[in-house]
Amino acid sequence: MRNQPSYDPAATADPVLAARPILERFGLTGRTALVTGAGQGIGRAIAFALGQAGAAVAVADIAGAKATAVAEELRAHGITALAIQVDVTDPAGVNAMIGRVRESWGTLTIAVNNAGVSTWEDSEKLSDEQWRRVLDVNLNGVFWCCRAEAALMLEAGYGKIVNTASMSGTIVNRPQNQSAYNTSKAGVIHLTRSLAAEWADRGIRVNSISPGYTMTRLLAELVATPEGKDKLDHWMDLIPMRRLCSLTDLQGGVVYLAGEASDMVTGHDLVIDGGYCCW
Ligand SMILES: NC(=O)c1ccc[n+]([C@@H]2O[C@H](COP(=O)([O-])OP(=O)(O)OC[C@H]3O[C@@H](n4cnc5c(N)ncnc54)[C@H](O)[C@@H]3O)[C@@H](O)[C@H]2O)c1
Repeated sequence: MRNQPSYDPAATADPVLAARPILERFGLTGRTALVTGAGQGIGRAIAFALGQAGAAVAVADIAGAKATAVAEELRAHGITALAIQVDVTDPAGVNAMIGRVRESWGTLTIAVNNAGVSTWEDSEKLSDEQWRRVLDVNLNGVFWCCRAEAALMLEAGYGKIVNTASMSGTIVNRPQNQSAYNTSKAGVIHLTRSLAAEWADRGIRVNSISPGYTMTRLLAELVATPEGKDKLDHWMDLIPMRRLCSLTDLQGGVVYLAGEASDMVTGHDLVIDGGYCCW
């Protein structure tokens, strides 16, 4: 059996004491990371978390100026960073993004496929274009990224992919209707499991995080409106912890899934939602 851990009670080398201390196994020093949709919001928070844990971070976004601004912010905080403009719906562009990482660093240990869009619309009124756009960014884009990232990771025989799904991949949100978004995120969760099984014996771990409603600047602007305030009240009734996720609530889970501490974990969807999915 390959890579089987040994445990010989008679041996002098105790595997617990022989291992690197646990907090070191959460560290990402010397690792290279890529985060898509990192020009703002959750992606920016993830880029900072990976950088603070020691990784060099490539900040990718369709909004090139935002990617550049976040990369500058990271550098100002002592983190090695690279900005890349990419549209994740374009497979050639995604391949070029991985080419930039290869040219710059030669390796890619961690990839967080986080770029996403949403739309609220009743399904009977949803246009072809709305449905296609959400599926194209949220599901096709994640696949194009995983495929290109895996090519580089398979060469090294090691890599950590973390896809940003959503609790909407598990539950159906209320009161707003968002069938395209929910479907895309359910797809991301099952794509994650499928790729995890496929690449497990070649060193690549593929997991997802599923945030609940997260207080980004865009959500803050929405809940400041009367319509948004009504939605917020409705959501609070459905969240056992009675609060939204903060951006920082999501960081620990991603750092865990990006590092050596989670090397035996693959195909897992880490739900970070204050208990929403519990009922
Ligand atoms: N905010 C929430 O409540 C919440 C909850 C669960 C899951 N999520 C997921 O988290 C991820 C980030 O969400 P957010 O709230 O930070 O959103 P956001 O809109 O603030 O940020 C998304 C980023 O992705 C970029 N982007 C959009 N389309 C792209 C494309 N085609 N190619 C490259 N980049 C693109 C945008 O320019 C933007 O910078 C998304 O996948 C979203 O579905 C968000």
